Amino acid sequence: MTMKTTLFIKRLRETKLMLPPLTGFTDYPYRTILADFDPPFLTTEMINARALLQQNQRTLQMIRRVEGSHIQGVQLLGNDPTSMAKAAKIIEDLDFDYIDINMGCTSRKVTSRGEGVSLMNDEQRAYDIVHAVFQAVNLPITVKLRIGPSKNKITISSLSEKVIAAGAVALTIHGRTGEKKFASPIDLPTIKDVVQKVSVPIIANGGIFTGDDAKNVLFKTGAAAVMPGRGLIGNPWIVSEIRCALFEESFSSPALQEKKNICLKHTQELCIHYGERRGILHMRKILPKYFSKAQNIKELKHDVQRMATKSDVIVILGRIEERDYQWYYLENAQ
Ligand SMILES: Cc1cc2nc3c(=O)[nH]c(=O)nc-3n(C[C@H](O)[C@H](O)[C@H](O)COP(=O)(O)O)c2cc1C
Repeated sequence: MTMKTTLFIKRLRETKLMLPPLTGFTDYPYRTILADFDPPFLTTEMINARALLQQNQRTLQMIRRVEGSHIQGVQLLGNDPTSMAKAAKIIEDLDFDYIDINMGCTSRKVTSRGEGVSLMNDEQRAYDIVHAVFQAVNLPITVKLRIGPSKNKITISSLSEKVIAAGAVALTIHGRTGEKKFASPIDLPTIKDVVQKVSVPIIANGGIFTGDDAKNVLFKTGAAAVMPGRGLIGNPWIVSEIRCALFEESFSSPALQEKKNICLKHTQELCIHYGERRGILHMRKILPKYFSKAQNIKELKHDVQRMATKSDVIVILGRIEERDYQWYYLENAQ
């Protein structure tokens, strides 16, 4: 085991928390925001290996490194072992700390190319990809899987052994099948079976939206760590919430003004990174998540779809108020 892998595993076992790749959300601007919450690990959105090899400008923009004390990874997507290995080498040369391989994405565009979760149907190719990446770089390699491609094919048990034999040092298991996409419930017993079978740390994923969820998933699976998913969108505080829950510390939810401040900072980062027009288009998807507990959320979502500039964001934030510990969006305020 290399020094980098030893440190990676130690950090994972000690902190028990890894942050997810979320396409369209864990981009450079949000990773910059997240870095201030001191997460032990940060990863990019999934990065298409071929696009990286072609030096696609948008792809290069997606893997910009964020300063901080976190261990920083890139998630690679692909189906061809040779290009995955070459892409991994580029990532190593860019000074990233680990590589995660996507075997869970269910988007049709991805599965039609034999990538993402469809690799769970092809054990040999899954092995070849991990092995090729393992041989190409001197970095820890993780794989992110579901429990299987469909409910009649729960392939996680044999597949996890294969990818570990190929060189993976930890696995994230999203406790749903591919056909279920994001429907509940999460199959915790299947994750637990894998935890008991394999020697590498397992990161349990799926349905973690609070610190209590994280505790419950760790307890029921015996996994080494947890990974939230959608719960991270518009909620960087989940980093502290999970940390506090797992280590029996008290956590207080952010006040409205703190939420507004971070949301505004996030808007600014998006505008710097993408330019104002594209940045605000991104923020349209994100702002309602920051304030999902507000009354009149329907009206808020409606108005957010009309935001075009930073000033529009400031106006909307100004219309969110607190009364009697409840947040309201005041749609008709002048
Ligand atoms: C908008 C969105 C984007 C995602 N992008 C990725 C991705 O790039 N790579 C990946 O492995 N999983 C991706 N996922 C899956 C999440 O990382 C996670 O496995 C999933 O959301 C399950 O956790 P949850 O039930 O807590 O949301 C994405 C999920 C969502 C909702």
